[in-house]
Amino acid sequence: MSEEILLDIRRLSTAFEVEDVIIPILKDITFRIHSGESLGVVGESGSGKSVLAHAIMGLLPSNAQVYNGEIIYEGRDLLKLNPKKRRQLRGDRMAMIFQEPMTSLNPVYTVGSQVVELIRAHRKISKKEALAWAVDIFEKVGIPQSNDFANRYPHELSGGMRQRVVIALAIALSPVLLLADEPTTALDVSIQAQILELIQSLQDNMKMATMLITHDLGVVAGMCRNVLVMYAGQVVETGETEELFKFPKHPYTKALLKSIPKLDQNTEFLETIKGMVPHPQRMPEGCRFAPRCEVAMDQCHREEPDMHSFSEYAGVKCWLYQ
Ligand SMILES: Nc1ncnc2c1ncn2[C@@H]1O[C@H](COP(=O)(O)OP(=O)(O)OP(=O)(O)O)[C@@H](O)[C@H]1O
Ligand SMILES: [Mg+2]
Repeated sequence: MSEEILLDIRRLSTAFEVEDVIIPILKDITFRIHSGESLGVVGESGSGKSVLAHAIMGLLPSNAQVYNGEIIYEGRDLLKLNPKKRRQLRGDRMAMIFQEPMTSLNPVYTVGSQVVELIRAHRKISKKEALAWAVDIFEKVGIPQSNDFANRYPHELSGGMRQRVVIALAIALSPVLLLADEPTTALDVSIQAQILELIQSLQDNMKMATMLITHDLGVVAGMCRNVLVMYAGQVVETGETEELFKFPKHPYTKALLKSIPKLDQNTEFLETIKGMVPHPQRMPEGCRFAPRCEVAMDQCHREEPDMHSFSEYAGVKCWLYQ
């Protein structure tokens, strides 16, 4: 299958400055997303998944800086674009769904006017046309058609409906890349499946590439063709989801897969990964997973392995495969 490279991230490294201390967070992140590809991003809490998504969107907080690397999107290095160009891309060619709906919604405007504003910030059309467009988008994300809906304020809506509005904002201008950072964790369990189904159907119908950040490996198995495993600010394994779930290579990926409940398994016997994710200021020498790795060798504690690629999609950063 020949697919165009949409996003090509090369050796991306970021740091935060907190009280005059520079804390490196992402280190040498390298991966690609092809047009229409669905990529799941997994890894324990604190591994840098959200920082990565924010870096791609150009939405890192002011105390963060990208100190190395490139983010090539549709052939252009986003890190070299001026803020205005970057803003134009955001919400248009690339969009993001945040974990917490209220991050993207403004409490003082009606949901209709927020979608209208977004559309008019990017397209030269009248308010009336934009409102018709907004109603159309609301329908697309499963909000029952009614004139009244557009006039509601975010606080008048249920959590599930609010997240649908957030998704409407994200897809209004048909982005070619949609980033979703834990899009359902703030929602009731009963609503989560509906929202994921919605994202999946939009992904299929609109042929968008999606990067879905989630703790739920089951969701990745169901929705993502490829997967990227992060550990302590680095990518440690990538691969096609089916292959990677069946034959994980990195000891961290193996441990992560063992730590998720299976339907037919008594959760009492669920394994947890021993130890903790290292603190960003106290990263171990060598492989960052070595202190927790059950098969670590001497070398692992001294030298950092490179990412070893097996194919366009599969690679692993582990001495066992060098
Ligand atoms: N604004 C900030 N200032 C300083 N450090 C930050 C900031 N935001 C994130 N970090 C640090 O960056 C690291 C990665 O955080 P990030 O939120 O990306 O993790 P995550 O993989 O998204 O975790 P989770 O699964 O819990 O959402 C953490 O050590 C976190 O403390
Ligand atoms: Mg996060």
